[in-house]
Amino acid sequence: MKPVCEFCGDSGLILKGEVAVPCGCIRQKAMTKLFKASGLPRKLLDCTLSSFDFKYYARNCLDIEKGVSYYEIAKLSFQAARNFVSKFMQDPNADGLLLSGPVGSGKTFLACGIANALLKKGKVVLFIVVPDLLDQIRSTYDTARNNSDYTEYDLVDTARKVPLLILDDLGAHNYTEWSRNKIFSIINYRLNHCLPIIVTTNITPEDLDEYLGERTTSRLLEMCRPYRLLVDMDIRAIQRKEKDQ
Ligand SMILES: Nc1ncnc2c1ncn2[C@@H]1O[C@H](COP(=O)(O)OP(=O)(O)OP(=O)(O)O)[C@@H](O)[C@H]1O
Ligand SMILES: [Mg+2]
Ligand SMILES: [Zn+2]
Repeated sequence: MKPVCEFCGDSGLILKGEVAVPCGCIRQKAMTKLFKASGLPRKLLDCTLSSFDFKYYARNCLDIEKGVSYYEIAKLSFQAARNFVSKFMQDPNADGLLLSGPVGSGKTFLACGIANALLKKGKVVLFIVVPDLLDQIRSTYDTARNNSDYTEYDLVDTARKVPLLILDDLGAHNYTEWSRNKIFSIINYRLNHCLPIIVTTNITPEDLDEYLGERTTSRLLEMCRPYRLLVDMDIRAIQRKEKDQ
């Protein structure tokens, strides 16, 4: 097989004068591995903090309760995301974030911006779409569908212990008691071990307990700083219009 790296011929070492030093491809390979292991879908690799666009957040729409504009809220949330990245680099036990807001308000985008930034810095991140995780766990019970690559314990245990967990779309689904217990066990473990979580959800923090139960909600609010992204129009709809023009 032809070597992939033209500099080291895949030996991982290059000669600098008389000494052998690690080739740059080692870092690249490690990074590729991290990105693969993160579970971040392809499309979301483009959601970076530097491409977060503020034009979707109206300056003239006010969150009545707080008296701040949607634009200002987006700025604050973005700043919180950036701060999280730099904090986490120094402190693996930094407080997480709870990003709530309506459909198409940029919650997943912002969470992926954090994931991408940290993966590039060599951190281990796991991105989980909550309904998919629950399906996956369920399918490990179903022997006909189970490809036995992993067990329920593996899945839940990885989510419990990974340095940074992103729970995407912890939304307004009809959680069964079983699902709630799985989510609780992940969140409770992370709380006890001071491991941060970034959550995105359509549910307002006040209504979370209705869906997740009091014990999980209380823990999430303890672990995560809440930010509520607001938009006057679904960003997906705006982008569809932009494309048509
Ligand atoms: N600030 C932004 N700048 C550029 N594109 C954005 C921004 N926010 C969102 N988008 C794009 O808009 C679409 C919807 O964003 P996103 O998936 O983050 O929404 P969401 O709040 O997670 O919605 P849902 O509740 O449906 O999961 C995506 O295609 C995303 O790439
Ligand atoms: Mg989303
Ligand atoms: Zn090389």
